[in-house]
Formats: sequence, C-alpha cells, structure tokens
Amino acid sequence: MNEYEKLLLQNKAWAKERLDIDPDYFNRQAHVQKPEFLWIGCSDSRVPANEVTNTQPGEIFVHRNVANLVVNTDLNMLSVLKFAVEVLEIKHVIVSGHYGCGGIKAAMTNNHYGLLNKWLRNIKDVYRLHSDELIAIEDNEIRTNRLVELNIIEQVYNLAKTSIIQKSWAKNQSPILHGSVYSLENGIMNDLITLDSLSSIPDVYRFNFDEDETDD
Ligand code: CO
Repeated sequence: MNEYEKLLLQNKAWAKERLDIDPDYFNRQAHVQKPEFLWIGCSDSRVPANEVTNTQPGEIFVHRNVANLVVNTDLNMLSVLKFAVEVLEIKHVIVSGHYGCGGIKAAMTNNHYGLLNKWLRNIKDVYRLHSDELIAIEDNEIRTNRLVELNIIEQVYNLAKTSIIQKSWAKNQSPILHGSVYSLENGIMNDLITLDSLSSIPDVYRFNFDEDETDD
C-alpha cells in the first residue's frame, strides 16, 4: 500500500469515527457553511488552521500560501477574500504566520530560487522597510523571527489597502483584521495587530467609492 492509499483508508476511518460520535455530523455539514473567520496562513504543513484553533470543519474559511502573503495582484487570494467578505460575511480575517517560517528564511538569503524569487520578493520588500531594526539584531534566529512578525503586520495592512475590505468597512463596519504569530515550539498563537477602520491606514491608500460602484 502506498502513502496515498493509506491516506484514503485513514479518511474512511475518520469518517466512521465522526459518525460513531455523532450520527448527524455529515448531514449538518453538507447543508451549511457559515464560518466567522477567514484564515490566511502559511502553507507549512505544521500549522493547520482547524487543528491549532481547536475548531471544526465549517468554522474557518482558509487560504494558505508560502509565508502567508497578501499580494494585491494575487487573483487567488483576492477571490477568496471577496467571497469570504461579500458572500460568507465573515467577521474576522486572520493573517496567521509562524516562527521559523521557511519562506521568511529563504527571503533573507541571497540564494536564487527560480520562480519562487518572484514570490519571496514581497518579503524582501518588508525587510527593506524595516532594515534598520532588523540589521541591528545580531542573532540570526531572533532576526528571522522578528521579520516573521513584521511580515504578518505588513500583510494585515495590505488587506486594509484592498477595495474589498474598504468597501465592507464602509458598508458593514466589518470584518476586523488580525495578525497573529504561531509558535511551532509550544503551539501558542500570539496576537500582533488588529485593524478595524480606515483610520488605521495612511490617507493615500483610502478609496472614495461611488454609490453604485460594483467593480473591485
Ligand atoms: Co511558513
């Protein structure tokens, strides 16, 4: 049996276990999706949204990419964000990064990673914005983990710069944007930043919307 076949077997065992505990489990899940949270996390296999927050399927809408970036030309992320905000009407968006992130480590080197260079460039820009603070940190691991935090905070600001979030703020005073950092060593998520209104971003990023404008 190969790994994939083993995975399918584990899935069957899991489904049976759910039903044994709660015969209505899948009936309920099949009809409703009303999550309150959008999770924008790192693709790292050690930080699964539901497990680390002790939540069930149906509770968190999830988007993950290398180093939990919010890039304003990323159609994938923007589509998830638009659906989560406008259709699911989620109440909170969480940018969730983690200490020891491989994407952050890679961005801090001068190594050439082919296609990945284009993605990691976004992190190098965050480094440049905070280079005075970062260069002053002598310990490499501490410097890396500080960039992990600064990157999360920057991505939360990137969310606030999108017209999707700004329109929703104007209309519903929602969602609240959060940045949190997860420790692989103790499993704890610590809050870094919360944004919930236009006043939290510089004026130049704020849009004036026409009454009936529907485009993003
Ligand atoms: Co990572």
